[in-house]
This record gives sequence, structure tokens and C-alpha cells, in this order.
Amino acid sequence: MRLGIFGTGYAGLVTSVCLAQLGHTVTAMDTDAGIVARLSQGLVTIHEPGLAELLGANLDAGRIRFTTRAEEAIAGSDIIFVCVGTPPRSDGRADLCQVEEVARTIAQQLDGYKLIVEKSTVPARTARWITWTIRRLAGPEHEFDVASNPEFLREGSAVHDFMRPDRIVIGADSQRARSLLLDLYKPSFECPIVVTSVTTAEFIKQTANAFLAAKISFINVMSDLCEALGVDVRTVAQSIGMDPRIGADFLNAGLGFGGACLPKDLSALISVAEENGVDIRMLQEVERINSARVDRLLTKIERALWIVRHKVVAVLGVSFKGNTDDIRGAPSLTVVPRLHDAGASLRIYDPAAMPKLQAMYPPDDRLVYAESAMDAARDANALVILTDWEEFRRLDLDRLRSVMRSPIIIDGRNLFRPAQLEAAGFEYYSLGRGDVTPGSNGHRGST
Ligand code: UGA
Repeated sequence: MRLGIFGTGYAGLVTSVCLAQLGHTVTAMDTDAGIVARLSQGLVTIHEPGLAELLGANLDAGRIRFTTRAEEAIAGSDIIFVCVGTPPRSDGRADLCQVEEVARTIAQQLDGYKLIVEKSTVPARTARWITWTIRRLAGPEHEFDVASNPEFLREGSAVHDFMRPDRIVIGADSQRARSLLLDLYKPSFECPIVVTSVTTAEFIKQTANAFLAAKISFINVMSDLCEALGVDVRTVAQSIGMDPRIGADFLNAGLGFGGACLPKDLSALISVAEENGVDIRMLQEVERINSARVDRLLTKIERALWIVRHKVVAVLGVSFKGNTDDIRGAPSLTVVPRLHDAGASLRIYDPAAMPKLQAMYPPDDRLVYAESAMDAARDANALVILTDWEEFRRLDLDRLRSVMRSPIIIDGRNLFRPAQLEAAGFEYYSLGRGDVTPGSNGHRGST
């Protein structure tokens, strides 16, 4: 099929490249000429495992091209995917300006029947607004449908998630739209395909992200209780996760959820509930619990160092999770300025995301970007872990202890076992297990 894609951010680029890989002919449009130029040369604009290889292969095969001209993505396309950003507004609702802009552009250039498909996460009933917008501008004679086909891709494993989905959701209110989307996916995937109404599909996506957020806040509250009771939250999480009704995923306690999706989608859902007079306090509490996580870590840092001023603190991990260079909603955006304001000297390292943080916080006499985790740790009074990069889990602990001024680790992602770090000679503070402190005489967390 011939496909037009609006937006080459995370969802748009991965969708474009993967659909090309399935054999479709893709024209991806972005208003940013710099991004279009880079992608046209095969240079990926995001850190996403496997994406660069697929982009190169599909450019070579002539199945994908990038443009700043909307008409090229519309003309001749069977399906047009809307993948533009829906960032949060200051009142918590989703900002749908870019979605409206795409709808207006399409309306002005309809050249025969088009299926317009929402991929961006949007509040339920957004498709109605898109339909009204196009209908008003294009007039009654043009044929088109608006459908919803939400993505469930996780940054850092988005290509894998696209190619091996656990389900595909197709929300379509006409037979023609349903058939087109089934034709697009059915030959390539064996997973369940849920066919439903447009509004239901939109709401499935919002509900999925809200549930994931709730699961994380749940385990984080339990982790506080675990600390108070002297039990290890990881043992509790593993054990309850063996029950298939609960499931083992998304039970990692720590700094909570960040990123561009879960926080934004949760607050947008809360706004929709409030507008509809539905009691949504449960999810408001999920948000509140999440925003308190970073404060809890900062308290631990103070407890470990007593006075933060003039201390050298190594910060490992600035992206919101491992395997991505995305810093949106990342704990580093709070922790770095707070420690800097408190007078600490920071030595920061991340395998992929440092340039993005550096653009916001340029180096100064108390803020250094290091070459490696070991380099960041050199002469540090304490090392703070903010992201679950695999590389940090595999650090040589003996060497780490030898380069640090004092062997103190405050781990916001529970990457190590307290007993392991105690044996390696560290003071170790984590979330939801007993801390290994100078006076702890063996960590308090049980197994
Ligand atoms: C999330 C969803 O997982 C995807 O299914 C969805 O498609 C995507 O949003 C989206 O709406 O586009 P993503 O934001 O890439 O994906 O990241 P997640 O893997 O969900 O992680 C979100 C945050 O939760 C991260 O900060 C992560 O560190 C945190 N997290 C995750 C935990 O604190 N504990 C866990 O057990 C799991």
C-alpha cells in the first residue's frame, strides 16, 4: 500500500520505517527541514536500537522517503497516519494543535477517498473533531474516514515492539476503513487484532497507559512500606508477579515513571474524567505518588552526605529510562538543578542522552559531563543512579570503589542487591530495601 505519515518523532519515525520494512511505500512528512534532510541521508534522529539499520535498508530499497511537503504525503496515499506530537498543556489536557493542523492540511488536499488514522495518543473522541474539521473545510463531496490505530511501542524497544506486537487495535466506524487497516496488518502479523469503534480504540490506549502508571505507583507505595518493615520490595514484586493475574512486568520500584507518554497521558485522562464529572481521585493519587519519588531520593542523598554543599556527586543516567536518549520527564531534570543549587559539584554521565541535558544545563565550574561512568565517579563523595542502563548494572564495583573519594551509592533504580554492595564495601541507599549505612551492621532488608 501507499502510506503517508505526518510527523517523524518517536512514533512517526518508527511507524514509517517499520511499515516500509513490511513492504509498503511510505512518504513521511515533517515540517522540520533539518530532520527531513538528516533522515533522507539515513541518519536517525533518535536513539532507538535497530532503527538505523532498517532506515538505511528501506531508503536503499526506495520504499521510504521524507519530505517537508504535505501534498507529497497525501497525494496517492491509501492511508494517512497522524503521528504528530500531542504535548501536555499547562492545564494537563493534551495540546491537539498539531493534530488540528494536519486535519486542516489534509482537508485542503483531498484527492479521492482517504483513510486518516490517528497513531498519536489522543483523548477519546478526538477523531470526531478531526472528522468535523475535514468535513467543514473539504465540503460534503469528499469521501474519507477517520480511524484509530494506537501504538503501544516502548522507547528503547520500539522496533521490536512494532515487529512483534502482542495485539493490534483497530478502531474504525466504517467497513471500508476496517478492511483497509486489516489488509495493512493481517498478512504480516499473527497476534490478536482487536477491531472496535474509533472511540473505544482511543480509550484503550489511554487506559493502557493509565494502568501501567498505576501499577508503578502501587509498587512504589509498597516499596516505602517495605523499607519501614525491613523487607525487600524486589522479592515481594517477583513473588506477586508470579501470579498471572498480577503479572511480573512493571513492578520495578524506584524513581517512578517519566518520559513523554505515561505522565502526559495520565494527566490528559484525568482531565477527560473531570470534564465528564467522573471521580478520578484514584489516578490523581497515582500522579501524586509518582511526583514524590524524586524528593524521596533527594532526601536519601542528604541523609547519606549530610551537607551537600562542596560535595562531588557523580550522577549516572539522565534519560528517563535505559536504551533511549529521551530526557523528557526524566528525574535528572529535577535532580541535577536541585543538587547544583544546593552547592554540589556534579559529574554527569549517560551513555546516550548527555547532549540533550547539556543543551539545557551547559557545563560550568561545578557541572562536568564525563566520558564514562568511571570517569564520573572519580573523586566523588557519592554516586547517584537515576536511570536503569544495563551498563551501570555491569560496573566493576572494586574499581568503582577505588576511584571514588568515599564509597557511597544512592540508587534510584535498585540496580544492585544491598548484600552485594555491602560485600563490595559500599554504603548503599536504594528505594524499598534496607539501606547499607555505616552503622547498619548488615543491611536491614531481608529477602
Ligand atoms: C509507554 C508504554 O509502555 C507504551 O506501551 C506506550 O506505547 C508508550 O508509553 C506511548 O504511549 O507511546 P515508554 O514511555 O516508552 O512507553 O516507557 P515505559 O517503558 O512504559 O516506561 C515509562 C516509565 O516508567 C519510565 O520512566 C520507566 O523507568 C518507568 N518504569 C517502568 C518504572 O519505574 N517501573 C517499571 O516497572 C517500569
